[in-house]
Amino acid sequence: MPLLAANWKMNPTNVDDALDLVRGVMSVARGHADRIEIAIFPPFPWLLPVSDLLVESGVKLGAQDCFWEKSGAYTGEVSPEMLKGLCQWVIVGHSERRLYLNETDEMVAKKTAAGLGAELGVIMCVGELLDHYDEGRSDEIVSAQVRAGLALCSADDSARLVIAYEPVWAIGSGRNADPEHAYKTMRLIRRIVGEMIGAGAARKVRILYGGSVKGNNVQQYVELPLCDGVLVGGASLDADEFAQIVRVTSEVYGQR
Ligand code: PGA
Repeated sequence: MPLLAANWKMNPTNVDDALDLVRGVMSVARGHADRIEIAIFPPFPWLLPVSDLLVESGVKLGAQDCFWEKSGAYTGEVSPEMLKGLCQWVIVGHSERRLYLNETDEMVAKKTAAGLGAELGVIMCVGELLDHYDEGRSDEIVSAQVRAGLALCSADDSARLVIAYEPVWAIGSGRNADPEHAYKTMRLIRRIVGEMIGAGAARKVRILYGGSVKGNNVQQYVELPLCDGVLVGGASLDADEFAQIVRVTSEVYGQR
């Protein structure tokens, strides 16, 4: 089933707005739950109130990050064990964390393995910077990130593993990637995942596109044969815009 993931990032700043947004998502999700999996990723403080609202809605909940240890002296961190029970999903290795928090491929690998080990679904993000893209190095950068990020994974993890290809220059920039570029990179990712965990298991791994996805451009990505959904940032903060993304995605996959 395709996955539509709503990464709210550090928004909204109060719980009432968060709950309003959830209500908007729930109302549109209702009619499409049999065709697409929808997951929302609010900031940590809103996870508990949002989870209360989502009970029996069919909409899944995820955290935007996790640490790799189960517990201990790690001030400020949240472990996958703590998220278990509350969330079904966690995002790791988002480019904003790689950029602002200096997260390395090694840390992303540990987080990916820890999330999967706690039986969460994990969305591992990869993507090249604009300089890499301009220099024609996208394949090299993305391959290295995928190889490193999956270093601690096995074939058993495949059904709960998702890789989001998000060219960094396309995130929040309004400059979404050319579908041909997205397709070629997603094909490369699928091949590398196959090399890492075996081709059979790799077929179960879902691959998403992310980067300035909106209601009026989502179709060109979800139509790509290898695309299993999208990771949406800015547009997921507007219930009407997100509803449009849900409708288009559901229609495209309904025809497959
Ligand atoms: P964007 O963000 O849709 O605002 O470009 C995507 C993401 O960062 O996951």
